[in-house]
Amino acid sequence: MNDSLGEFLRTDFGHEVYDRWYLEQGSYNFETPAFVRRHFPFYEKALLLSKDDKILEAGCGIGSYAREFARRGYHVVGMDMSSNFLSEARKITQRENLEIEYVLGDYNELGFEEKFSVIFFEGSFFYRSKEGLVSLLKRSYKALMPNGRLYFVHKNRSIWKPRPPMANWSEIKKNVFVLQKAEYDESDGIERCAWLKIDLETQKHYRCDFFNQHLRTDELKDCLVAAGFTDFRFYKKRRLGDFDPQNDSDFSVVAQK
Ligand SMILES: C[S@@+](CC[C@H](N)C(=O)[O-])C[C@H]1O[C@@H](n2cnc3c(N)ncnc32)[C@H](O)[C@@H]1O
Repeated sequence: MNDSLGEFLRTDFGHEVYDRWYLEQGSYNFETPAFVRRHFPFYEKALLLSKDDKILEAGCGIGSYAREFARRGYHVVGMDMSSNFLSEARKITQRENLEIEYVLGDYNELGFEEKFSVIFFEGSFFYRSKEGLVSLLKRSYKALMPNGRLYFVHKNRSIWKPRPPMANWSEIKKNVFVLQKAEYDESDGIERCAWLKIDLETQKHYRCDFFNQHLRTDELKDCLVAAGFTDFRFYKKRRLGDFDPQNDSDFSVVAQK
């Protein structure tokens, strides 16, 4: 991508353009209530949820999962680094008459100690290196109460491939074009993705870079152990049943403190 295309206002992940882009596209970028609901029997069983649990949804976006937890009577706190997403989440939550505390924050800087019995990531578990992963897992471990459970989805690097198209232009609204470009390096498991949004009305260009590393399953296990988790299980993605390393391109992880 060529920087001379214009002024790039932000270059990190999870910021204004990503938020706005998501919000504009909200209906199909965030999961539908039916999709979210469908997986709750799995979460409830795999995470042994009880109404006494204190759940943190890390990277809650507009709160689609947090609201389903609340509808089912669980105490949930939603955290996201995007104030735009959180204000949308608050609006919808109020409309539905639900009680959810939303916190603006970066989950890589989780400073809680033994505060939650469940930490839940859905579509929001990102790390940039092995060190970054260990640090995130350590912070999560610290924020969990004794017997607390951590949940996230992880890719199976040995068979996962990004879905084509790797780059395309799309007209989002009358005056906005978005270029999405994704690259994946199989040798180091690094996924690089960029969105370039051009607002033709204001002539402003916004860029969001997304960089994510996918460690191998054996490395993930080492990281979990390094962070203090010795009791963990890999499931099929959002389904009861053991992860099959030969056939499953993603899997769900439940780790207990
Ligand atoms: C694909 S969305 C998923 C949102 C929500 N979990 C869902 O499935 O509807 C990823 C979310 O993670 C948030 N996010 C990414 N990195 C984050 C971080 N370090 N701290 C807090 N939120 C983060 C983004 O702002 C975004 O809302």
